[in-house]
Amino acid sequence: MPTLFDAFDLHGLKLANRVLMSPMTRTRAQDNGVPTDLIRDYYVQRASAGLIITECTQVSDQGHGIVRAPGIHRQDQIDGWGRVTDAVHAAGGRIYLQIWHCGRVAHPDMRGGELPVAPSLIPAAGDFFLPSGRVDFPIPRQLRIEEIAPIVESFAQATQNARKAGFDGVELHGANGYLQDQFLQDGSNKRTDAYGGSVENRARLMLETAQAMIDAWSVDRVGVRLSPSGTLYGMSDSDKLSTFGYVIRKLDAMKVGYLHFTEPNARVLEAGNVLIKNVAQTFRPMTSVPLIINTGFDKTKANAVLVARDADLVAFGVPFLANPDLPERLRRDLPLNRPDAASFYGVGAKGYTDYPAAPSNA
Ligand SMILES: Cc1cc2nc3c(=O)[nH]c(=O)nc-3n(C[C@H](O)[C@H](O)[C@H](O)COP(=O)(O)O)c2cc1C
Repeated sequence: MPTLFDAFDLHGLKLANRVLMSPMTRTRAQDNGVPTDLIRDYYVQRASAGLIITECTQVSDQGHGIVRAPGIHRQDQIDGWGRVTDAVHAAGGRIYLQIWHCGRVAHPDMRGGELPVAPSLIPAAGDFFLPSGRVDFPIPRQLRIEEIAPIVESFAQATQNARKAGFDGVELHGANGYLQDQFLQDGSNKRTDAYGGSVENRARLMLETAQAMIDAWSVDRVGVRLSPSGTLYGMSDSDKLSTFGYVIRKLDAMKVGYLHFTEPNARVLEAGNVLIKNVAQTFRPMTSVPLIINTGFDKTKANAVLVARDADLVAFGVPFLANPDLPERLRRDLPLNRPDAASFYGVGAKGYTDYPAAPSNA
């Protein structure tokens, strides 16, 4: 029976356990997207994860949609990440970079007046965080078809940059309502060209991006994250099962290094309109690549999903944010620190690197 504390061989990369750290934006980079020493210390504290997947990191200025998010498209950003990966590796950890383009989820006020870009003229739902307060999303600018290949190329370049920075691999952020997800789902994509309409067309950007990343490094080193039940930023699709089934089968045929799915969270489930309630169970039969599952897991649920073989690895978000030594705490059934939501997207060490590890004699 597999457990959370068994090692895992990810195509030759040895993971010490199956307690992964899920990608989490923490808004602590410099304004120019360069990771700081504080970011390095935060990830080093969490190096006992089987694998750290970093916060989403923009592939270009156009893809930048979160205040103080890091980038991987300039040399100073690559150097900054190099200091992070060196330190995590020295601490015995493994680390993948999540790379990302925000698409319509951004605001001109943080982009020198530039509108965010999107498949269609449909704004994201909800509101957007600026240092000055929360604001409505603008109607984005619709991408011209000739602008799409350069975006794919920016993911290939970011993959090469991540490799240079010493990462063990890269994860395509295909989830949570960002650019590739916006193209994939028909609620946000009303295009009539080769990137809209049929599921083959809507999935084209996701698949071209994954392929470009694979070509830039290696198939074993590229994972893809998807959120089939996600409704964040107003995401919707008229046939989620077919849409995600199609893209998952295609990614499986490409033999991507792993697939990483999120289950619907409690808020989405309470809203009551979730079509796919058990994502791992639904899609596992469609793929044989290593599968990471995330959202709402504790030790009991995580071990159960491994035993059922609905997933191979479990990623923890908020529990890892608040517990730098999460694998050890889970292994020894120690109490967990309480997360402080007010500092999730803050600045500085408070609520970031000051969560205590459990005393060694606890
Ligand atoms: C503060 C915060 C930031 C997040 N940022 C990202 C992100 O950059 N990329 C991503 O794919 N998911 C992001 N997520 C989602 C988490 O990776 C994860 O899916 C979510 O927290 C549910 O897992 P959990 O129940 O274990 O916390 C974020 C979540 C939180 C709480």
